[in-house]
Amino acid sequence: MDPAPPTPPSADPAPRTLRVDGDVVRTVDQARLPFEHVELVLADAAGCARAITTMQVRGAPLIGAVAGFGLAFALRAADDDAALDAAVARLASTRPTAVNLRWALERIRAVVRPLPPGSRAVAARAEAIAIAEEDIAINRAIGVHGAAMLRGAAVRRAADGRPVGPGAPLQVLTHCNAGRLAAVAHGTALAPLYTLHAAGVPLHVWVDETRPRNQGASLTAWELADAGVPCTVIADNAGGQLMREGRVDAAIVGCDRVARNGDVANKIGTYLKALAARDAGVPFWVACPTPTIDAAMPDGAAIPIEARDPRELTHASGRAGDGRVVEVRLVPDGVAAFNPAFDVTPARLVDALVTEHGVVSADAAGVARALRAAGRALAD
Ligand code: MRU
Repeated sequence: MDPAPPTPPSADPAPRTLRVDGDVVRTVDQARLPFEHVELVLADAAGCARAITTMQVRGAPLIGAVAGFGLAFALRAADDDAALDAAVARLASTRPTAVNLRWALERIRAVVRPLPPGSRAVAARAEAIAIAEEDIAINRAIGVHGAAMLRGAAVRRAADGRPVGPGAPLQVLTHCNAGRLAAVAHGTALAPLYTLHAAGVPLHVWVDETRPRNQGASLTAWELADAGVPCTVIADNAGGQLMREGRVDAAIVGCDRVARNGDVANKIGTYLKALAARDAGVPFWVACPTPTIDAAMPDGAAIPIEARDPRELTHASGRAGDGRVVEVRLVPDGVAAFNPAFDVTPARLVDALVTEHGVVSADAAGVARALRAAGRALAD
């Protein structure tokens, strides 16, 4: 096999969750955060599929990027039409809800299908790199547009006589992890927060713990602390009360699939936060890269909701007093548990979609506008 061509350098200096290194891809094993920071080296399709299924890599944009490299790896072994279709099907089956996974695989399949066998693996790798680089640019742009929205929230608060300033930070709530760990860099929902923080705007983030896998407590808190952004972890059930008390200026979350009418699938619990935000008059925004829009999905009703292992609910792992990471059981033996991993927030509860092309309304017109700006057809 020919050695992999060199990876084009990226101009963006932001910390990367995923790096292409010759014939392998390097990332961090998110199943071991926050207590162990262990590099995960992906070198074949099976490893990529396993990493997505086990959530060593997770977050809609990141699993799309890793699936793309998985397909390129698969084509190194065999690249006829049957092998291509089998690899796409295998990788697409790893997780059902985030549409970025299928989007990336279909994009690469469309590029390599017309090429003669023998040249497809190199082309697939180049396309996977393009997807990863685009993810960085998309999220950087979401950071800029979302930061402008948050500055607006600060202005509104000042108009209420509570200006943002030293000792009185802008208060933002987020759910799950839609930060740099969930993407190639920057993150989606956290990108505006990093942009504001870099601009010196005083900021504090309420981080939903995000049961059952605790992506908020384990991952969002880890990366915000790492970046020096002040944050506080709260129980999932606390956000509504904080909003009612006027302690949240805006809520911003990521998304795993957005339907044509603006309905949003995201981590389980998002819907309840949107309901509480609407009741309390807190703006509720969704950071939405256009690859996360499913142009073929008319509304949220048919979005597949992943049901994960009930063990994620019945057990929890954490660091014991002696430093070991241990797993404990929380639920009485013999009691059933059900673990839907995502929910759908109706578009009417979403105040705006923050895309890389700007802020649009969460409705058919807004989604169509975002797709047009991205050069995509309405139903692809
Ligand atoms: O199950 P996960 O951890 O992959 O779920 C992640 C989320 O729900 C994120 O909010 C979503 O993928 C957006 S990531 C930028």
